[in-house]
Amino acid sequence: MARVEPDQVLTEARSEIEAASDPAALESVRVRLLGRKGEITGHLRSVSSLPPAERPAAGQAWNRVRRELASAVEARQAQLESRIRGGNEDVFDPSLPGRRPALGLPHVLMQTLDRLVDIFRSLGFAVADGPEVETAHYNFTALNIPEDHPTRDDHDSFFLGPDLLLRTQMSPVQIHTMEGQPPPVRVVSPGRVYRRDHFDASHSPFFFQMEGLAVDEDVTLGDLKGTLHEFVRRFFGRELGIRFRGSYFPFTEPSLELDISCTVCDGQGCPVCKRTGWVEILGCGMVHPNVLRGVGYDPDRVSGYAFGMGPDRITMLRHRIPDIRHLYENDLRFLSQFRGAS
Ligand code: DAH
Repeated sequence: MARVEPDQVLTEARSEIEAASDPAALESVRVRLLGRKGEITGHLRSVSSLPPAERPAAGQAWNRVRRELASAVEARQAQLESRIRGGNEDVFDPSLPGRRPALGLPHVLMQTLDRLVDIFRSLGFAVADGPEVETAHYNFTALNIPEDHPTRDDHDSFFLGPDLLLRTQMSPVQIHTMEGQPPPVRVVSPGRVYRRDHFDASHSPFFFQMEGLAVDEDVTLGDLKGTLHEFVRRFFGRELGIRFRGSYFPFTEPSLELDISCTVCDGQGCPVCKRTGWVEILGCGMVHPNVLRGVGYDPDRVSGYAFGMGPDRITMLRHRIPDIRHLYENDLRFLSQFRGAS
């Protein structure tokens, strides 16, 4: 067998190491040269088969080759890593334009909530808050929903204990607020609510609601209608058709639902409004005397109205978003479309 020159092997191996263009390629060069069955390891083993007089010199020579290659691998590795981190001086081109840092933005739902709150603040409402974990008393009973009322089933609650649940609606904040202060009250409460719904295009097990409550002497249904009409005007930025329909909620009497003319088809009829030209955006009504009495207010002296709307639905209508799941999947390709959209 022709004699192999350590220096020649060293030179060739060095250029292979230099040629490795990424950490994985470098690792396979390292294994091929210095691994247990590698080329250099092989040369070192074969020293023992040389005539005894040649062994020390050959051993030293191959050991030197192994050391030098090991440090060449290490140097190349550091170089490749710094290139990955973008810090390599060799490839830095100062004439290239800089990279703009990606600017974050409020989630499209938060943009809606901010806008809702701004509008109601300008109409004289304060913001009230309440806990996401409620007792059945606050979530149902104090809202005039008796123990065996089917609404409790409709709400399909997530119970955390016999008497403890994730709130299914924002209406319990009405109770906390009235318990905490005498009338007059004028608050809105945006927040997250939970129901055992499947996740599909129009349902989610959690979503937002914004509750409104105004209680004072002589508050009338006319005040409720006027306030909500003004809200629709300001929120959608134009005069939309609106209509109130009679409805039922245990905590209001009378109860109404507010429809607006469909913003997707301008009332012509489309799948979003189920071809009716109208979409429901909130429930509302005059606060039931039992609710007022329960918090110690005198229903003969004060009256009030309440409403509850769905910011998810309103966001979808405003931006023509066809599937509620888009709002909760945090896909930046979707979310980044709503820069400054509020
Ligand atoms: N809490 C109701 C729901 O989750 C929405 C609602 C309807 C709130 C009428 C109100 C109201 O304050 O007056 O379905």
